[in-house]
Amino acid sequence: MKPVIDICASSLVKSDKVHRDVYTSQAVFEQEQRRFFASTWNFVAHASQISEVGDYVTLDLAGRPLLVVRQTDGTIGVFFNRCAHKGSKLYTNEFGNVGKIMQCPYHAWTYKLDGTPLGIPLRQEYKSNSFLQCESSKGLGRVGGVSVYRDFVFVRLDPEGINFEEYFGASLQWLDNMADRSPTGKLFIHGGVLRNVIRCNWKMYLENINDTVHPVSTHESVGKSAKSTWDAINKGNEKVMPMAVEQLLPFASGYDFFNQLDAEVYPNGHSALAVRMSTHTGYAYPADYVAALEKRLGKERTSDVLGKAPQNSILYPSIAVKGAPLVMRVIRPISVDRMMIEAWSFRAEGAPELLVDRAMSYNQLVFSPMSIVAHDDIHLFESVQKGLSADGNPWVSLHRGYEEEKVMEDVMACKGTSEELMRNQFKAWAHFIAEDK
Ligand code: FES
Ligand SMILES: [Fe+2]
Repeated sequence: MKPVIDICASSLVKSDKVHRDVYTSQAVFEQEQRRFFASTWNFVAHASQISEVGDYVTLDLAGRPLLVVRQTDGTIGVFFNRCAHKGSKLYTNEFGNVGKIMQCPYHAWTYKLDGTPLGIPLRQEYKSNSFLQCESSKGLGRVGGVSVYRDFVFVRLDPEGINFEEYFGASLQWLDNMADRSPTGKLFIHGGVLRNVIRCNWKMYLENINDTVHPVSTHESVGKSAKSTWDAINKGNEKVMPMAVEQLLPFASGYDFFNQLDAEVYPNGHSALAVRMSTHTGYAYPADYVAALEKRLGKERTSDVLGKAPQNSILYPSIAVKGAPLVMRVIRPISVDRMMIEAWSFRAEGAPELLVDRAMSYNQLVFSPMSIVAHDDIHLFESVQKGLSADGNPWVSLHRGYEEEKVMEDVMACKGTSEELMRNQFKAWAHFIAEDK
């Protein structure tokens, strides 16, 4: 293991600003990989991706290759994707089914689905030595903790640390809000994933998800195009708005709209932006769908679920979800100045095709590499990443809406334009990257 150079987070993160090194320093990135991502809870898969026994997905989390496997008893096991023999990855495909056992492609050591060892070629040659006392005889290593909430699978790499419920707290309501949009309470990943590699530090992307002051300037061309398209189609006749226009027209909103938005921040970096009103709250739902939801949830909860459609809810630091449309972005750091964003769509079981169409359309229009929105942001993320190497000012300002006397409570409501949501992320970052938590 690479020795950790101890970076003092308090010298980089102040209550109202952060040092540029949090985005640009290789040493900080390595400490993040070793400590921050090991001690926080991170999303690894959705249970619908591995519905059958033996189904698996692979991924890298903070430099560690992981293997997520559906077990024979229906539970989900998450292992380090590292053969106990010499360390080969057991599986290199992104997803698949292991069959009845897992077998390493290198020297054919085999394992049960729970990672315990099964067979080793030429077994007799291990009998008169200390193999059984060696870690290598114990099978696959497991991550420190696995928790499945409404079919969203999270792991903590460290064996000890904050428990799942305490870590996410009130932010879990936004996964409920998504799953409860299904009349059966079940979500399924729909279609493939849209991936986008961006030449910036991962924290920039997460901050931007909560930045309501950038669309007016950054996405000005999107708003104008959507508005002129709609004006040309509609000509004042109030025709039914096409889905693409409905999803893009809000980018034409001005500061007066974004100033009305609220936000909630929760301990450990999580947040929900635009809880009472967002660009998604106006979406219409067929009456029979609403009736199906009411049958399972009751009128009050149904109204709460459909009425609360935050712009984004962040379960820090790995995912950002939108209940309407049903989409999720997964943030995957690659290096100090490179990250990958994944955009996934969900199908809510028992819900009309309209909801799937909304999810697919939104991901395509707004988050995909070919979208007419994402490239605006990407251009600026990459520009900021380069700009931060300029001398003269090592600090990045997070002063917007900062009030020194404010005490962070369990759930704090604030204006949607406040940088409190970013300050809250850095507060958590500084805490979890430290050696002593
Ligand atoms: S590395 Fe897996 S069997 Fe040798
Ligand atoms: Fe943006």
